[in-house]
Amino acid sequence: MTKRIESLKVIDNKPLKKDFFIIELESSRKLPEMKPGQFVQARIDGSQETFLRRPLSIHDVDFVRNTFRLLVQVVGKGTESFSKLNKGDSLNLIYPLGNSFTLPTKGARTLLVGGGCGIAPLLYLGRYLKSQGIIPDILLGFRNRDRILEYNDYEAVGNVFLTTEDGSAGEKGFVTSHSLLGKASYDKVFCCGPEMMMKAIAGWCRKNNTDCEVSLENLMGCGIGVCLCCVVDTVKGHLCTCTDGPVFNIKELKW
Ligand SMILES: Cc1cc2nc3c(=O)[nH]c(=O)nc-3n(C[C@H](O)[C@H](O)[C@H](O)COP(=O)(O)OP(=O)(O)OC[C@H]3O[C@@H](n4cnc5c(N)ncnc54)[C@H](O)[C@@H]3O)c2cc1C
Ligand code: FES
Repeated sequence: MTKRIESLKVIDNKPLKKDFFIIELESSRKLPEMKPGQFVQARIDGSQETFLRRPLSIHDVDFVRNTFRLLVQVVGKGTESFSKLNKGDSLNLIYPLGNSFTLPTKGARTLLVGGGCGIAPLLYLGRYLKSQGIIPDILLGFRNRDRILEYNDYEAVGNVFLTTEDGSAGEKGFVTSHSLLGKASYDKVFCCGPEMMMKAIAGWCRKNNTDCEVSLENLMGCGIGVCLCCVVDTVKGHLCTCTDGPVFNIKELKW
């Protein structure tokens, strides 16, 4: 799949709740094929903060408008500098990078599980599944109701189930304790979020003999398989999260 290095125009940068925001980008060229689970490496030209590019998942794509969106949480200087981009500014990307989720066959009972900014790649995945006639269950976990993001967008592509750690919305606790997991069964689970959460979901899937893919968010440098700072230990040896992933089947991981 062709990769591009391109400066894209910021056509919107919308603050969401707390430290989250959504950037919408427009290309002056026809967008390349982008698959659910792929990511971009972003930097602001001339900025010291993003001298090393920052990896961000493709959150949603609108091929008709020739735009796509990134859902970002401010955690440090790089993401903070992205949050300050104004309409009309440009963001330089290498994209689309990485492999993608393996899409299930029609009729597969499918569950998407996300926590915090790990929900980012799941909207585009959900939209794709819906276009293929698969309406997924979507289990999302947040710290509290003030941190629930884009509920309506996820509800438009699947059946949403919520947990919050303090019980202020949905069921109280972590996604892994949601009652859904006690009664439903699935053919395929896709998961992205904090590693502890993904490991717990992987454990549930193993116990229930369910195929599961996780999207890893290892620290990255180059994003293109050169620096080796993103390696993950797998049954096939050490693999790069940026080029062999970020999506891995749990059967491949030594979890
Ligand atoms: C494939 C991939 C997809 C990602 N998708 C998204 C996304 O869609 N939205 C989003 O908000 N973030 C996403 N991330 C995480 C994002 O890349 C980091 O939060 C970002 O690079 C931090 O840059 P910074 O300069 O703001 O913070 P830094 O100053 O670099 O770091 C601030 C703190 O965040 C921690 N941190 C940095 N990178 C990561 C990481 N990858 N995982 C966990 N902790 C990290 C650092 O250890 C440090 O404690 C993704 C990461 C990967 C690898
Ligand atoms: S980030 Fe450099 S090899 Fe993966």
